[in-house]
Amino acid sequence: MPYTQAQISTEAHRLYGLLACVSKSKATKWTLQDCIEAAPYTLAINEHKKKQNAIILAHSYTTPDLVYGVADFRGDSYQLAQQARTCDAHTIVFAGVWFMAETAKILNPSKRVLIPAGRAGCTLADSMTAQDVQKLRTQHPGVPALCYINSSAEVKAQCDVCVTSGNVFDIAQKMPGEKLIFVPDLLMAQNIEIELKRRGTPKEIIASGGSCCVHDKYLPEHVESLRTKYPGIVVLAHPECAPEVCRLCDYVGSTKGMADYVAKSPAKLFGMLTEFGLVNRLEAEHPNKQFVWPFGICSYMKKNNLINTLGALLDPRADQIVEVDATVAASAQKSIEKMFELTK
Ligand code: 13P
Ligand code: SF4
Repeated sequence: MPYTQAQISTEAHRLYGLLACVSKSKATKWTLQDCIEAAPYTLAINEHKKKQNAIILAHSYTTPDLVYGVADFRGDSYQLAQQARTCDAHTIVFAGVWFMAETAKILNPSKRVLIPAGRAGCTLADSMTAQDVQKLRTQHPGVPALCYINSSAEVKAQCDVCVTSGNVFDIAQKMPGEKLIFVPDLLMAQNIEIELKRRGTPKEIIASGGSCCVHDKYLPEHVESLRTKYPGIVVLAHPECAPEVCRLCDYVGSTKGMADYVAKSPAKLFGMLTEFGLVNRLEAEHPNKQFVWPFGICSYMKKNNLINTLGALLDPRADQIVEVDATVAASAQKSIEKMFELTK
C-alpha cells in the first residue's frame, strides 16, 4: 500500500470532519469507516493532481467524497464554465456530465480535459440534435435562438446565445423581438414565458426538446405534502421543474441560487426539489439547518467516483478524454461567450 496507516487515518479524519453531517443515502450518514475506505483514493488523486498540474472541477450533484475530498472548485454550470475558461492548469478533470466537460474544452481548447464518468449523458442534452435546431430556425427565420447549457456542442453551435439556470430569465428578457426559440428544456421554456410575463416583458417562446429526468418527476402534490408534514418549511426548486410545481415554491433558481438562498435565509428547515448532491452540499455547509429531500438522483452525475477519477488521471480511457470538432467548437464558443457578455 503506497500510504501508511498514519497518513490514511489523518486523511480519513479530515474527510470525516467535512462529511459527518452528510447523508449517504436517505437513511444513512457518512461514517468514519466510509472515510477510511475513501482515504487511499483521495490521497492518491490529490498527489497525482499536483504532479500533473491538474485541477478538479466538480458539479454539486456529484458525490460528496469528490466534492469535498478532491475538488478544487465546486459549483453550478455557470461557475464551473467560468473556472474552466480562466483556468491555467495543464489538465482540467471535470466531475460532471459530458456537456459540461465539452463546454470546458470549448472555452479553453489548449487544455487537456478529462471526464471520469466518460460519455455521461443528460436527458436534456440528449433530446436534441443540430438538425432539429436548424429545422426550427428555418421555420422561424429571424427569431433569436437560445440554448440551455445542457445541450451538445453541435446544438450550441446552431444558437445565438447559451444560458444557464442562473441567467436564463435575465438573458431571455434582454433578447430583441417578441419571439424566442428556446431549446432543449420544454419545462424551463414554460417557466421563461411565465417569468417574462410577470416582469412585464412578455415573449412567445418557441420551444423544442425534452425534460430533465430528475426534475420532471416533481409534482405539485410533493410540495403540498412537504408543507402539510413540516409546517413552516421553506421549499426550493430548480427551474427544470414544471411551472405548476415552481409556482408553489418559495424560491426557484439554479443550484448556486438555491445554495445562496439557504445561506442567507434565517429558516432552519428546507424542502429541496432537486438532486441529492445539492442536499449533501447544503448538509456539509450548514450543519445547523435541516433538509428534506423527497427523491431525485441523477444517475449520469453519479457515474463519477473516486476510482474512475484516479483512473482518468493515471491512464485515461479514450471516452474520458474530451475532444470537440474545431469548427463546431468555434461556433459553440461564440454562443457561450455571448452568455458571459450578457451576464456582466
Ligand atoms: P445548475 O447549473 O443549476 O447547477 O444546473 C445543472 C443541472 O444539470 C441541473 O439539473
Ligand atoms: Fe441532466 Fe437532469 Fe442530470 Fe441535470 S440532473 S445533468 S438536467 S439529467
